Amino acid sequence: MSVYAELQKTMDDMLDAERGILAADESTSTIAKRLKAVGVESTEENRRWYRSMLLSTPDVGKYICGVIFYEETLSQQDSRGKPLPELAASQGIIPGIKVDKGKGDLPGAPGDMITYGLDGLAERLVRYHKQGARFAKWREVYPITDHNPTALGLTANAEMLARYAAVCQANGIVPIVEPEVLIDGNHSIDRAAEVNEQVLQAVFHALYQHRVRLEHMILKPSMVTPGREQTKASPDDVAMMTLRTLRRTVPAAVPSINFLSGGQTPEEATANLNALNQHQDKAPWHLSMSFGRALQEPAMKAWSGDNSQREQAQQAFLKRARLNSLARTGQYTPDQE
Ligand code: 13P
Repeated sequence: MSVYAELQKTMDDMLDAERGILAADESTSTIAKRLKAVGVESTEENRRWYRSMLLSTPDVGKYICGVIFYEETLSQQDSRGKPLPELAASQGIIPGIKVDKGKGDLPGAPGDMITYGLDGLAERLVRYHKQGARFAKWREVYPITDHNPTALGLTANAEMLARYAAVCQANGIVPIVEPEVLIDGNHSIDRAAEVNEQVLQAVFHALYQHRVRLEHMILKPSMVTPGREQTKASPDDVAMMTLRTLRRTVPAAVPSINFLSGGQTPEEATANLNALNQHQDKAPWHLSMSFGRALQEPAMKAWSGDNSQREQAQQAFLKRARLNSLARTGQYTPDQE
C-alpha cells in the first residue's frame, strides 16, 4: 500500500459521526499525579491494569474510534496475554501513540514553552507502526499571560508541530496536531479567542510551508473558554467563540477537529461539545473529542486502586463515552447524567 493510501485508510477508519478518541497517553509523571489523586501508587502493574480495564469495557467501541497510548502501553498485555494495541483493535478502536517527549522553557521567550522529541522520530515511528500504531499525537503548550505567547513562541511551536506532522505523514502515520492553549489564569474569553486565533493561524501557516496534507491530519485544539479563575461561560458562548476562531483559521480540508478537555469537568466538556455540534451547520469539519481527563476521571475514581470495582469503573467510563457520543450529534442534555 502506498503511504497516501495508508494515511487515507486510517482517516477512513477514524472518521465517524458518533465516535471520538480516548486520550490515555499520560506520561509516567502525569499519570502518577492522576493516580495519586485517587490514592493509588503509580506502578507499572497498576498502569497496565487500569488501561486494560478501560479498553476491555464491553461495547466501548460503539463510542470510541481511537485511543492514544503512551509508549509503555504499546508493549503491555492484558491479563490473558493479549497486547493492548490488539485489545483496542478487537473493539474496533484504532491504536495511536503520543510521540513528543515533554516540554521545557523556550529560551529567548520568557514564559513560553517548547516540546522535545524530533530527533530519531522517524525511526521510532517505524517501530510504533510495527506495534500497531496508525496515528500519532504531539502537543505544544501555550500559556496565556499579558505577554504570552510571544511572537517567537508562536513561530517556534508552530514549526515543531509542522515538522512532526510532516515526518509522520512520510512514514504513513496520521498526525494529530495539538496546540493546547492553557486554561490556567484569569484571562477573559475574548483574550482566549485572540490567543487561539494567533496560535492556529501560525500553525496552519507552518503546516502549509512544510507541505503537510491537511486531508490526512486531525487537529486537536482547546475550546475557547475564559481562564480557570474567571466565571465560566455558557456552553453556547463557548461554542460561538470557538467556532468563530476555527472558521477564521482552520481550512475546510481538515477532516476532523477533536478537542482536548484541558481541565474542564467531565460534564462541562460534554455540554460544550454538545453546544458545538448544535451549530454543526457552521462547521465544515467533524467536531469531535480527544478527551483525557473528561473521559477518564469518573472511572479512575470508581476504581481507586480496588480491582474488585472493575465493573463499576467500566460503567463510569462507558457512561462518559456514551454521553460524549450523544454530544457528537448535539443530542446530549444534562438530565441524561
Ligand atoms: P485532557 O482532555 O485531559 O486535556 O487530555 C487530552 C490530552 O491528550 C492532552 O494532551
